[in-house]
Amino acid sequence: MASVPLRLKDHAYDVLIGPGVRHRLADTVRRLGAARAVVVSARPAEWVPDTGVETLLLPARDGEEDKTLATVEALCGAFVRSGLTRNDVVVSCGGGTTTDVVGLAAALYHRGVPVVHLPTSLLAQVDASVGGKTAVNLPHGKNLVGAYWQPSAVLCDTDYLSTLPARELRNGYGEIARCHFIGAPDLRGLPLERQIEASVRLKARVVEADERDAGPRHVLNYGHTLGHALERATDYALRHGEGVAVGTVFAGRLAAALGRVDAARAAEHEDVVRSYGLPAALPEGVGTRELVRLMRHDKKALDGLAFVLDGPGGAALVGDVPEDVVARVLDAMDRRPLAELVAPGPAAVASAGAAQERAR
Ligand code: GLY
Repeated sequence: MASVPLRLKDHAYDVLIGPGVRHRLADTVRRLGAARAVVVSARPAEWVPDTGVETLLLPARDGEEDKTLATVEALCGAFVRSGLTRNDVVVSCGGGTTTDVVGLAAALYHRGVPVVHLPTSLLAQVDASVGGKTAVNLPHGKNLVGAYWQPSAVLCDTDYLSTLPARELRNGYGEIARCHFIGAPDLRGLPLERQIEASVRLKARVVEADERDAGPRHVLNYGHTLGHALERATDYALRHGEGVAVGTVFAGRLAAALGRVDAARAAEHEDVVRSYGLPAALPEGVGTRELVRLMRHDKKALDGLAFVLDGPGGAALVGDVPEDVVARVLDAMDRRPLAELVAPGPAAVASAGAAQERAR
């Protein structure tokens, strides 16, 4: 088991990673001094470990459709009915959409109750559950309403990953792949548990330096500007990690076009992405103009087009990137049928199979 500390000025917690760490939940709840727990779970009841205290189990569903203010209201109503107080604890069990919405409900209920996350997808283990960002969607867009609410512990049980479909596992690899360019060592070929640990360690370091996204935390959005645009342009047929993978390849090429890195470093982006069995091309039928329009609405793009780009001093947010350069780089990218991009090819299936074996 690995334990990654995350230490902020007024809050500290550990992220535990390894097989069976979900069974640390009762210890964690006892340490918090909680008298009762509400567990919100998008997974079968048998996936939820004992809390050691009186517990209300609320079923939930993973997915963007339920990541709404209505779900937050329903959860808070259930908290009231169960008599939950600030001396108790909320536990989330599920993928990133579940940890996001439950985290927000915990942040708002009684102006904040402790929350412990049990992320069950690779994406949630390496990114969503760590670092305190919580949010729900509005009809106008994703993650538009949220709060920073740090968990009291995160238990990344790698046993949960052994049943993930290949494509869902690949979704998480999108976030692991981008770590290569924002300060992590080369994680290719390492056991899955080590890849998760290194990704979480990197994220913890970044969040400790900039909890509220004032600057350094932007690097976590490497590959995300185009990634988010691709998710929207394909009506979410392309999953988050898949979009981030294509966005990472694009970021390498854009950095080269702007003279920030050389051609070899740009090529390394594609090598890394492909080595995780992730897509590296744009979907056919999604035009450059549409992508540029969508990227203009990115939350980071306060002024013109902004991207996190590699450079001589490492990754940094670069604003006011000329639109013609962006368009030229997009035009030069390979375009493949969407069906091909979303189907993990033989290499991806093999690497997912091996990862599942390692997680067992
Ligand atoms: N997922 C990006 C962040 O936590 O800042």
